[in-house]
Amino acid sequence: MSEEEGSSVSGVFWSLSPVVAITSSWQGRVNAQIAVTVVTASIVHSIPRLLVGIWKGNYTHELIINSRALAVHLLRRDQLEVVKNFGFYTGRDREKLRSVSYDKGVTGSPILRDAHSYADCRVINAMDGGDMTAFLVTVLDGGILSGGEWMTLDYFYYAAPPEWISEYGEKLSRSVALSLERIHKIDYTPWVP
Ligand SMILES: Cc1cc2nc3c(=O)[nH]c(=O)nc-3n(C[C@H](O)[C@H](O)[C@H](O)COP(=O)(O)O)c2cc1C
Repeated sequence: MSEEEGSSVSGVFWSLSPVVAITSSWQGRVNAQIAVTVVTASIVHSIPRLLVGIWKGNYTHELIINSRALAVHLLRRDQLEVVKNFGFYTGRDREKLRSVSYDKGVTGSPILRDAHSYADCRVINAMDGGDMTAFLVTVLDGGILSGGEWMTLDYFYYAAPPEWISEYGEKLSRSVALSLERIHKIDYTPWVP
C-alpha cells in the first residue's frame, strides 16, 4: 500500500465524522471550538467514554488542560453559522460565546442551549501527540436538545458558501504549518490524574 492510499483511508475518518462544538471553561473564561476528532471509546453502555483530539494551538486546548473538562455538542445541519463562529476564529481574539445562550454543566463546561445534543465530560487520561492531545473522557451527563440530523464534515463542505471554504482552507494551511513543526515532538511523560 502507498502513502497516498493510506492517506485516503484515513481521510474517510474525516469526511464521515460528525462536526461537533467543544466547549470548556477555566477560571471564569469560557470558549468553544469546532472539531471532527471525536470517537467512542467504551463498550460498556453504563460507562460511556469518548476520545477527543484537540490541537495544541487552540485556546480551547488551554482551557481543557487546566479544567480537565469539556462538553461535546453534536450540531444540526442548519447550524453552519455556528461552525464558522466557533471554528474559523480563536477565542483569544473574540468572546465567541458572548451572544450565545448556554448553561453551566456538571463539569463546569458551558452547555449550549441550541445544538442537536450534548455530552458533558471529565478528562480521565491524556496522550501527547506532538501537535495535538488525545483526551480520554468519561461522559458524566448528556441529553438530546433538538435532535434531527447532525452535521458531518462532508455535509459542511457541501453546504457552506464557497468563500467560507476558502477562508477555512487558508486557516487550515496555517495550522498545518504549525503542526509540521510540532508533530514529531511527542512528550512521552504519562498524564497524572
Ligand atoms: C469543519 C472544522 C473542523 C475542525 N476540526 C478540528 C478538530 O478535529 N480538532 C481541532 O482541534 N480543531 C478543529 N478545527 C479547528 C478549530 O475549531 C479552530 O482552530 C478554532 O478556531 C479553535 O478555536 P480556539 O482557538 O478558540 O480554541 C476544525 C474547524 C472546522 C471549521
